[in-house]
Amino acid sequence: MSDEEWAPFNQDEIDIFGNDLWCEQDYLAPFWPSTDTRSEGLLNSFDIRNDDVLYDLGCGDGRILIEAVRKGANKCIGIEYDEALVEKGKEKVREAGLEDKIEIKHGNFLEIDLSDATLIYVFLLPKAVELLTPRFVALMNAGKLRIIGSVLYELKEWPYSFISKPEIASFLYFKEMPNLTNNQ
Ligand SMILES: C[S@@+](CC[C@H](N)C(=O)[O-])C[C@H]1O[C@@H](n2cnc3c(N)ncnc32)[C@H](O)[C@@H]1O
Repeated sequence: MSDEEWAPFNQDEIDIFGNDLWCEQDYLAPFWPSTDTRSEGLLNSFDIRNDDVLYDLGCGDGRILIEAVRKGANKCIGIEYDEALVEKGKEKVREAGLEDKIEIKHGNFLEIDLSDATLIYVFLLPKAVELLTPRFVALMNAGKLRIIGSVLYELKEWPYSFISKPEIASFLYFKEMPNLTNNQ
């Protein structure tokens, strides 16, 4: 599906993709890559620093990780459940010559240690976002995690600050609202 076909942020899109019937046991979202517009907009909003460690939870073919390194992230880690996508992502990383900056791990993001994350990118279904929210709050409280970006779905029980970005159908979550110089 092209970027244009999947670009509009409307109720149809939310209803089609946001149905938890897509979920099956640990598999909590289908592979549906972020559009270029959204990934570009969200990563720009992160105001990436050269000491940032970014995680993409459910990283698909690794495209977000490659883009984040090109925007200056020090290290990017992707967690992906689907082994074929893990292999595809690793191949793309090799082709880009970014093996020293990007690691793609096969596994369930609910079971992965995220304690070194400063930025977290998610494009998942509401149920996955709900399951992850208590961990996100704990990571924010621990102090290292600066920003979480979520494409399409809100973190419903977020106790701190957030910004809605309707132009890229995304949400940004913080503990305290930062001064984002690159905020679009
Ligand atoms: C909507 S896609 C997003 C891909 C990528 N993050 C992007 O924005 O282009 C969601 C991805 O999450 C993966 N996924 C689903 N459940 C998972 C789990 N429990 N652990 C790790 N990955 C998972 C799927 O295989 C899929 O690749």
